[in-house]
Amino acid sequence: MDFNNKTILITGGAGFIGSNLGFYFQENYPNSKIVIFDCFRSEKKFSNGNLVSFGHYKNLIGFKGDVICGNINNHKDLSLLESFKFDFIFHHAAISDTRVYDQEVVMQTNINSFYWFLEKSLKDNSTLVYASSAATYGSLPSPQRIGLESPENPYGFSKYMMDQIAESFYRKNPTIKIAGLRFFNVYGPREFFKAKTSSMVIQLGHQILDGQAPRLFYGSENILRDFIYIDDVIEANILACNTKFSGSFNIGTGEPRSFLDIANILQKELSTDFDIEYFKNPFSGYQMHTQADISLSTKAFNFRPKHSLESGIKLYINNIKEMHKASLD
Ligand SMILES: NC(=O)c1ccc[n+]([C@@H]2O[C@H](COP(=O)([O-])OP(=O)(O)OC[C@H]3O[C@@H](n4cnc5c(N)ncnc54)[C@H](O)[C@@H]3O)[C@@H](O)[C@H]2O)c1
Repeated sequence: MDFNNKTILITGGAGFIGSNLGFYFQENYPNSKIVIFDCFRSEKKFSNGNLVSFGHYKNLIGFKGDVICGNINNHKDLSLLESFKFDFIFHHAAISDTRVYDQEVVMQTNINSFYWFLEKSLKDNSTLVYASSAATYGSLPSPQRIGLESPENPYGFSKYMMDQIAESFYRKNPTIKIAGLRFFNVYGPREFFKAKTSSMVIQLGHQILDGQAPRLFYGSENILRDFIYIDDVIEANILACNTKFSGSFNIGTGEPRSFLDIANILQKELSTDFDIEYFKNPFSGYQMHTQADISLSTKAFNFRPKHSLESGIKLYINNIKEMHKASLD
C-alpha cells in the first residue's frame, strides 16, 4: 500500500506505539501528510501514582508532520480535526494504564471518544485502525481467541466495549473498513516514558544496568506472556489497512514466553550473571498465561510477526542502554 499523498491521523501519537507509527510513515512515505493528535502529559496523576497520560515531546524529536495538542474528551479540541479529510485514522490515544480503577474516567476517555472517530471515519471514508487489547481476555485460558472475552479490569472492559461498538458500527455501515488490533505485550524503543507501565523488558534491562539482580515474582518461570516487538506491531497497523474484512484481531507472536526468559536474554545481551531475586506478586487479577491466536489476523491481512523474544531484545538492547540514565521528566 502506498501512503504517499495520503492524509493520516494518529491519535496518541506522542505515546509509545503512536510515535513509532508516525516515524514509520515519515521515513517510508515522505509525501504522506501525518497529523498527530495527543494531549501530551500533564502533571496530573491517578491515585495509583502514575501519570494520567504518557505522551512525551521527546518521543517526537525529529518528527516533521503536524502536531495538535488536544484531548479526545474535549469536543472543542476534536473540532480542530474537522478541517482535515483523512484517508487513514489510527486511533491509539487512550488511558493505557491497566491499573487505573476509576471506572468513570477510563470509560469516558476510552469509550465515549471512540464514537467521534467512528463518525469521522464514516464522513471521510477513511480506513480506521484502532488499538484494542489482550486485556479484553482477562485470565481466560490460552490461546486467546476472538469471540471469547472476559475483561477483568476497567481498562480491559473499555477496550472490549470499543470492539463491540466498532462491530455494530461496521455492520450498520458495511462500506467502512475498521480493524481493532488487540495488542498483547508490546516492547521496544519509545516506551521509556510509560515509566512503571512500560514493558518488563526495559524495566528489567534498567535494573541490570543499575548493577542490580533482576527482580521477578515467585514462579516467574511459569508466568507466560505473548511479548511482541514494536516493529511487528507497526507492521500490523500497516497491514490492517488492507484487511479483507472488518473485525477485531489479535496482535501477538503466538509464542508465550516467561518473565524469566526476558531476564535471561537480557543478561546474555548485557553479559551479566546475577542470581534472580524473587518476591511475592502483590497483584490480584494477574494474567498468568497469554498466547495470541493470530490465525484470523493472518487470514485477514497476512499478519506474520517476524521477531522472537531473542531477536526483538537484540534489536532493542542499544536503545535500552541509551535510555538507561535518561530522565523521565
Ligand atoms: N503497549 C502495549 O503493550 C499495549 C497493549 C495493548 C493495547 N495497547 C493500546 O495501544 C495504544 C497505544 O499504547 P501505548 O503503549 O503507545 O501507550 P501510551 O500511553 O504510550 O500512548 C497513549 C497515548 O495517548 C495519549 N492520551 C491519553 N489520554 C488522552 C486523551 N484524553 N486525549 C488525547 N490523548 C491522550 C497519551 O498522552 C499517550 O501519548 C493504547 O490505546 C493502548 O491501550 C498497548
